[in-house]
This record gives sequence, structure tokens and C-alpha cells, in this order.
Amino acid sequence: MEQELELQNSEIKETKRKRKEIKMEKEEKTIYDLPGVGAATAEKLIAVGYTDLMSIAVASPSELIEATGMGDALAKKMIAVARSSLEMGFESGEELLKRREKVIRLKTGSKAFDSLLGGGLETGAIIECFGEFGSGKTQLGHALAVNCQSVEKDAVAVYIDTENTFRPERIIQLAKGAGLDEEQVLKNIKVARAYNSDHQMLLAEKVEDLIKKQGLNVKLVVVDSLTAHFRAEFIGRGTLADRQQKLNKHMHILMKLADMHNLCVYVTNQVMAKPDMFFGDPTQAIGGHIVAHASTFRVYLRKGKKGTRVAKLVDSPSQPEGEIGFYLDESGIKDVE
Ligand code: GTP
Ligand code: MG
Repeated sequence: MEQELELQNSEIKETKRKRKEIKMEKEEKTIYDLPGVGAATAEKLIAVGYTDLMSIAVASPSELIEATGMGDALAKKMIAVARSSLEMGFESGEELLKRREKVIRLKTGSKAFDSLLGGGLETGAIIECFGEFGSGKTQLGHALAVNCQSVEKDAVAVYIDTENTFRPERIIQLAKGAGLDEEQVLKNIKVARAYNSDHQMLLAEKVEDLIKKQGLNVKLVVVDSLTAHFRAEFIGRGTLADRQQKLNKHMHILMKLADMHNLCVYVTNQVMAKPDMFFGDPTQAIGGHIVAHASTFRVYLRKGKKGTRVAKLVDSPSQPEGEIGFYLDESGIKDVE
């Protein structure tokens, strides 16, 4: 209880700090420059994550109305002004190709797994891994946090841990397995425990600070688990729509991070039983369309025969769907011999 209060207090402080920061960035246009935004409205917007013009520009009127209680006309006007004051133009195919050339591929440790994803997990993208307990989602998160450090000098992994399953001891094992300096590897993983969904969202926003203020070369952001808090918190209170709206916002923050900083976002997701399904696998990822649409790659993990694991690519912009086997051992994720 005390902890929760403390947490709430720190969140209030955080909102205040953010508000100050936004005011200070005056040379750029901010949400305070939008028509009809007084202090109270701005506060409401900031509190639910609309901290910059881009977030307003890509919002729908109904989202803003729900967040602030403003009228429909004003919401539409705000969005229109935010859009026109931002460069939301088109990119040529050539420019896009240039951006694609900067894509780095993070390795899982298994060649088969990497090639399933077209050579590894891409930066600039969100990769969602879903599967039952013990299928290897957390282990893959650990392996990526280690392996991403060999792609670029000073590469840093951020690990947002919602289930208290991050284990530095495991990182040491994996670093040894990858032939990397354990101490250095541990130093370059920034771990934060998220106590609830709001805290989790705040931590995702904080990644920007690590990059901009601390100058860290963040190449990977792990959110393990993406959906557990949301699932637990929105059972009794609120509606599914509320949960989906928050989850949507969270995914947008992650998407923006991936896109703007050429980093890879790896999120894990549980599955739930789908009792009305008679054929195929009767499980379904939590979070529904919101998570599925925001993820660039989706991988379904399950336990295979003789202690192996099976990874199935179910959604990808460029790779054919496929399935491979791998196994987990002391040194990490390995190919099946
Ligand atoms: P939930 O978070 O419960 O949904 O599961 P998960 O998909 O995150 O599973 P996780 O990645 O934690 O996988 C757990 C499995 O990985 C265990 O059952 C072990 O088989 C294997 N594992 C975990 N740690 C080690 C290790 O240090 N060495 C080896 N060889 N296997 C390990
Ligand atoms: Mg796990």
C-alpha cells in the first residue's frame, strides 16, 4: 500500500516534471500552442501520454474526447492543427531504401531461428513473441539482451521486467556462451522492474531519456511481459475498451522508439485458451488486434518434442510464414543438430 502511494506520488511528480520540460522546449511547437488548450486540458493530455504534437496528430478525435472530455469540434481542430504543423509528408522509395540499409539484425543464437526472421530480429521493428508458459519467451529476451551487444560498439539493451523474471546470473551464463565479457555485458543492460501498467508505460517513455540525455546507444528494448499487468488490472475494473486504449498508447510509444532510434523492440505475450476453436492450436495471444497490428513480426513459440522448442513465424512484412525447431541450453538458444 505504502509502496503504491509512493509510486503514485512519483508519478505525479513525473507529470509535473514533464509539464515543465514541455514548456521549456518552447522554440519547437508544443501542445500548448494548439487551439483551445489551456492548462487544465494540457494537464489531462499529458497525464494520459499525449505529450507532443505527434501524439495528437496521430490520435483519433474519439481518443482525445475520451481522455479530456473536450468537444468533438475542438478535438478535430486540434488534430488538424497538430498535423499541419508537423512534417507528416511522404518519403520516396529511395529514401526508405536508404533507411532500410541502416537496419541491423540481432541474433537469437540459432541460425535457423535467425533465418526464419530474414537474418535476425530487425531494428526499426517490434517483434512480438507469444506462447504458453515455459515456451522460452523470457529466455529469448535474455539471449537478445546479450547478443545485441556484439552488433555495435557500446550497444545497450533495456529490459522492462514486469514479472520479476530477469536474472543477471543467466546473463552471465549467456555472455560466457557468446564469448563476451560478462561484466561489460551486465553493465550494458539497463533493467527496470515495472510494478503496474502505468509504471510500465512510463518506463517505456523513459527510454527516450536514456538515449537523448545519457547518450546511450540503445539497440534493444525488451518488454517482458507486455500484457501481464494489463490483463491482471483490467479484469475487475474498467472495460476491455479502456485496456485496449491504454495498450494501444503503449504500443505507439514503443513503435516510435523503434522507428526514431533504429532499435529493436522485443515484447512477450501470453496466450489464452480459445474454447470455441476446434481445429489447429486452440490458443490465442492476449491483446488482440491492438498488439498484433502494432507488431511488425509475430512469432508463436511452443514446446516441441524431446525438450526442443518450436518457433513459428505468423506475421511478417517480407518473410514467408514458416516454422523451425531450436533448443535452449546453458549457453543460450541453439540449433537442433
Ligand atoms: P512464462 O513467462 O511463464 O510465460 O514462460 P516463458 O515463455 O517466458 O518461458 P521461459 O523463457 O522462462 O522458459 C523457461 C524454460 O527455459 C525452462 O522450462 C527451461 O527449460 C529453460 N531454461 C531456463 N533457464 C535455463 C537455463 O539456465 N538453462 C537451460 N538449459 N534451460 C533453461
Ligand atoms: Mg517469461
